Amino acid sequence: MGPRERLITGLRAARYLVVALLTGVVTAPMPMLLLGACMTLAAAGAGFVLLPRALLVLRRWAGLARRRTGSYLGEPVPSRYRELPAGVGARFRAVLTDPATRRDVGWMFAHMFAGIGLGAVGVFAIGGAPVTVLQMALWWLAPADQPLTLLAVPVTGWGIALGAGTAQLLVCAALLAWVAPAAAGVHARMSRALLSASPAEQLAERVDVLTESRSGALEAHAAELRRIERDLHDGTQAQLVALAMRLGVVERAMTHDPEAAMRLLREAQSGAEEAMAELRGVVRTIYPPILADRGLDGAAEALAARCPVPTRLTVDRLGRVPAAVESTAYFVIAEALTNIAKHAVAEQAEVGIRREGTVLLIELTDDGIGGVDESRGSGIAGIRRRVAALDGTMRLTSPAGGPTTLEVTLPCES
Ligand SMILES: Nc1ncnc2c1ncn2[C@@H]1O[C@H](COP(=O)(O)OP(=O)(O)O)[C@@H](O)[C@H]1O
Ligand SMILES: [Mg+2]
Repeated sequence: MGPRERLITGLRAARYLVVALLTGVVTAPMPMLLLGACMTLAAAGAGFVLLPRALLVLRRWAGLARRRTGSYLGEPVPSRYRELPAGVGARFRAVLTDPATRRDVGWMFAHMFAGIGLGAVGVFAIGGAPVTVLQMALWWLAPADQPLTLLAVPVTGWGIALGAGTAQLLVCAALLAWVAPAAAGVHARMSRALLSASPAEQLAERVDVLTESRSGALEAHAAELRRIERDLHDGTQAQLVALAMRLGVVERAMTHDPEAAMRLLREAQSGAEEAMAELRGVVRTIYPPILADRGLDGAAEALAARCPVPTRLTVDRLGRVPAAVESTAYFVIAEALTNIAKHAVAEQAEVGIRREGTVLLIELTDDGIGGVDESRGSGIAGIRRRVAALDGTMRLTSPAGGPTTLEVTLPCES
């Protein structure tokens, strides 16, 4: 590490420590306040309301510490609180029995001491050098019988002031460059250890999410089957029934009116062609053949070209994408572009598809009127369902006046 980086690291650590000191000071009276809330519990019923309230404030406070620690360490600190039920009694019980509350309280005591103790290092690391320079310049202001001391050496002349002052400056530099980062590291790691959800809890959270996405997948699957069934029943089957009836009429007409029979036969033929086209349409919605033929990039290109709003498409190297992810990506882009054409009143749109690590990232932007209201249709809800079914994420931002942005990530590896 060069001196420049060392200085930057030191300053960052010192800033973290100073914040730790300040928050430590703010945390210090909290145990008393909590105790007060507990006492009112004994004295009067008010504590039933006060204690959970106080613990929820602590929860928010611990959340801020989690954010600080995460940003200092460069990775988020996972937390897991149980959901809060409605009703005073249930809420009281939920807050008190949540293991996360115990964690918050433990952190509160630790941070009170560690924040103030280690935080002081940060203050010395930052403030040491300027104070030393001032001391070196102004040592003569101290009364003669009580001389200023630099590094425990009493200063009686300029020579000592410069010598001892330089030595003290070096100590301050070392404090900033080495001691502050170490102290900040200790504090941040301690906070993380105290505030993190345990691996078992993180696993439970993961299971919850997966259970939800699995039931979403089943639901999406069932809805898909119902849609296909309806399409086949209302479209293709109805056309085939009409065709069969027409052929029956042809059979009867054949003997006494061959002319009309011929005309009916031709009608039947075009009916059969229509039914075929309908069937092809249904098949296309099950797994778009264009995906099989041209891959996701080719299919997206076709969708962009077909969109009446000028659309710019950028596709980075995608690598191998599982078929389920490909077809979900295709439906997302198709539905979003349809929305842009139908509702956005946009001048232009952009579609980006790229691979980031193990996820496929799809971004769609239009410069239209914005103000998407999901409850007005079923298309966006459908996107949400499909994406959730693959354990992906979807983010939609659409302020009134635009622009509208849809970001979807789909995991490509399990
Ligand atoms: N890109 C967009 N720009 C502006 N409004 C949009 C856009 N996409 C969707 N909307 C609005 O959000 C509503 C919901 O969209 P959607 O769920 O796809 O339903 P549908 O397209 O069937 O109306 C639409 O009715 C429309 O008013
Ligand atoms: Mg739509």
